[in-house]
Amino acid sequence: MSSRTRLTFHITLSTPTPTPSSPTLTIQITDPRSTTANNLALATWGSSEILANQLHRLPIPDFTATGPGTQTFPILELGAGTGLVGLSAAAIWQQRTCLTDLRPIVPNLEANIAANRKELAKYGGSAVCGVLDWDDPETRVLGLGEMVRARVILAADTVYSEEHPALLTKAVVARLERGERARLVMCYPLRIGYLDHIRDLWARLEDAGLVCVLEGRETLDQSWEEDTPYEWCVWRWREERLQQQQP
Ligand SMILES: C[S@@+](CC[C@H](N)C(=O)[O-])C[C@H]1O[C@@H](n2cnc3c(N)ncnc32)[C@H](O)[C@@H]1O
Repeated sequence: MSSRTRLTFHITLSTPTPTPSSPTLTIQITDPRSTTANNLALATWGSSEILANQLHRLPIPDFTATGPGTQTFPILELGAGTGLVGLSAAAIWQQRTCLTDLRPIVPNLEANIAANRKELAKYGGSAVCGVLDWDDPETRVLGLGEMVRARVILAADTVYSEEHPALLTKAVVARLERGERARLVMCYPLRIGYLDHIRDLWARLEDAGLVCVLEGRETLDQSWEEDTPYEWCVWRWREERLQQQQP
């Protein structure tokens, strides 16, 4: 079984330099190989492993409520796949996460939530899931309930075709809370064939009023048998963009 179809992931909880005896979170993934969407067999991609293991190093997002009547969902994952990043974030940040993807992927997400419910609860986290197609991001998402926007959006390995930068930006603009505490956290491989898509995504996010506030690069361990660099980045709304939205 390759790393992409591995069924147990140990996610680092400690900081700053993990060792073999560092505390880890154990996330179980139900066998994803029979699930497909968009001609892509379901798997856990390298970006997820990188980002899940990066979360404990990131500044903890501020999840406190912005004010009365301004309810937001704590964490929303777009294109969750097997859900490794969202499930890890639920435990590490002790919040409720909504894992979303295309409809054919959601039963596997439900199974992964069930498989990890107790582990998340140990850390004070929980997860729900629902369908969210980036091309139709306004549609009601079952797991989100009435809370239409999220404080934190996670997206790992979600840019691998020329349509994705525009679609993903559309979904982020529709679903990221409008406020100074909102964050978009992404990770993607820096493969030659994808670099134009990544540049396009950055340009579109900047045009939409977001700014990157933190970024870094990591590589996978040897079990993945690849030396591709991965980039992760954290975004927030520009002050000017937020002021434009004041009534
Ligand atoms: C390469 S996989 C990454 C999955 C997971 N984030 C990971 O890193 O393991 C891309 C994911 O994006 C989802 N996806 C592709 N197009 C989508 C769309 N239009 N709306 C929602 N999800 C989409 C796919 O179904 C797939 O689960």
